[in-house]
Amino acid sequence: MTASTPRKRLFIRSWGCQMNVYDSGRMADVLAPLGYGPAEGPEDADMIVLNTCHIREKASEKLFSELGRLRVLKLAKEQAGGRLVLAVAGCVAQAEGAEITARAPYVDLVLGPQSYHRLPEMVARISRASGAVIETDFPVEQKFDFLPDSTTPQGVTAFLTIQEGCDKFCSFCVVPYTRGSEFSRSAAAVVKEARHLVAQGAREIALLGQNVNAWHGEGPEGRPWTLARLLLELAEIPGLARLRYTTSHPRDMDEALIAAHGAIPQLMPFLHLPVQSGSDRILAAMNRGHRADDYRRIAEKLYAVRPDIALSSDFIAGHPGESEADHQATLKLIEDVRFALAYSFKYSPRPGTPAATAVAQVEETVKDRRLQEIQALLRDQQDAFNRACVGRSCAVLITGAGRHAGQFAGRSPWLQPVHGLVSPDLGLTGLTGQMVTAVVTAALPNSLSVRLEGNEALGPPAQTPRQEKAAA
Ligand code: 5AD
Ligand code: SF4
Repeated sequence: MTASTPRKRLFIRSWGCQMNVYDSGRMADVLAPLGYGPAEGPEDADMIVLNTCHIREKASEKLFSELGRLRVLKLAKEQAGGRLVLAVAGCVAQAEGAEITARAPYVDLVLGPQSYHRLPEMVARISRASGAVIETDFPVEQKFDFLPDSTTPQGVTAFLTIQEGCDKFCSFCVVPYTRGSEFSRSAAAVVKEARHLVAQGAREIALLGQNVNAWHGEGPEGRPWTLARLLLELAEIPGLARLRYTTSHPRDMDEALIAAHGAIPQLMPFLHLPVQSGSDRILAAMNRGHRADDYRRIAEKLYAVRPDIALSSDFIAGHPGESEADHQATLKLIEDVRFALAYSFKYSPRPGTPAATAVAQVEETVKDRRLQEIQALLRDQQDAFNRACVGRSCAVLITGAGRHAGQFAGRSPWLQPVHGLVSPDLGLTGLTGQMVTAVVTAALPNSLSVRLEGNEALGPPAQTPRQEKAAA
């Protein structure tokens, strides 16, 4: 055994959004100094973390059935004289901590998203404590100040959380209750972490936050910066070829941010901007704070500054009070704006949210039918968008080897997974992380097939506009 071999093995199962995937990486980071390294699977783990997501229904049922399976594993380990630490993290832990320890007393640790920096201390405590350790209060210190710089290699495309929580209180959503109120990391902390990620090989960074465009972190002068300003700064990092940010709220799409889409070449022409409904009545009931036409106007402005921008959205079918006319207004908005990608959900009541107790709940069969209509339209638009890419030339970021021999995998500017054949003279070594030009040869249901073209000068990324100006 070498000195660097981990003494204990950690298995993290992540459900839900990219933020949870990111948080799982950070949990692995804080546990590494305690000797935890990655386990192959639950069976060979000394500690298992279930990182849960509460945003849609059935999250807790899924959790309890998984816990039931893991209980058997834990018992078997204990009977063999070993130990298995079971932890539940994430939003379900935050919202239902007490229920988890009541229904699954064999769980050792329950911790909410604000407590990850305390994991090492909590793990140390459970080695002494007999009962479960619960940590779901919102601590005063911000967890980011306590987390080390990410050491988990994230690859060519990396996530960076810049903002957490939400103060918008949409009628249907649990996030303000589970993730707490809005918090923005400082510009300096974000830029430092971005540089670190790039030094580790990241070429594309997606800035994350539940309400990412409400980010207003402190700038170097002590005053808050806007997201547009932060993007300009990040675009100056040498080697960082692509920037994205998600998830945004239409209310926070200010003029500067829209203009940034036209001014920053690294900012990819793809924006996930959930609208949820196309009806003004339902948007008001949802407490979204904008009308359907406001969204149309934002889309028009984005298309004007960045004509190749593709929009993506979330939709909810059957929010309480939704009439047939409201549903038709949603279909109309989808037709007007046109989406390259979208996620749509049947409204599901989340305990503790205002919409859950509204009297005018929509019947299940009606919700099902409306969801199907929304999805059929969105699927057609997604197919049309992917088909329109065929024959076009675009920049592809190579992320690694493809699924089949001789293939590379990559990503288009519009977030589509891309694959193509590695040319024999280039080989795959050295290709990962390169930005190449490719012609799209076919659109498959969930990916694009491409052919590399005219990449004689594969080399370091182009300079940023500000660097070019400085060199001139
Ligand atoms: N019911 C259905 N969909 C929901 N979402 C959030 N809460 C609910 C709910 N109670 C959807 C929204 C949000 C996405 C992440 O999940 O569309 O944008
Ligand atoms: Fe939830 Fe609305 Fe906040 Fe988005 S903006 S996280 S939907 S409350």
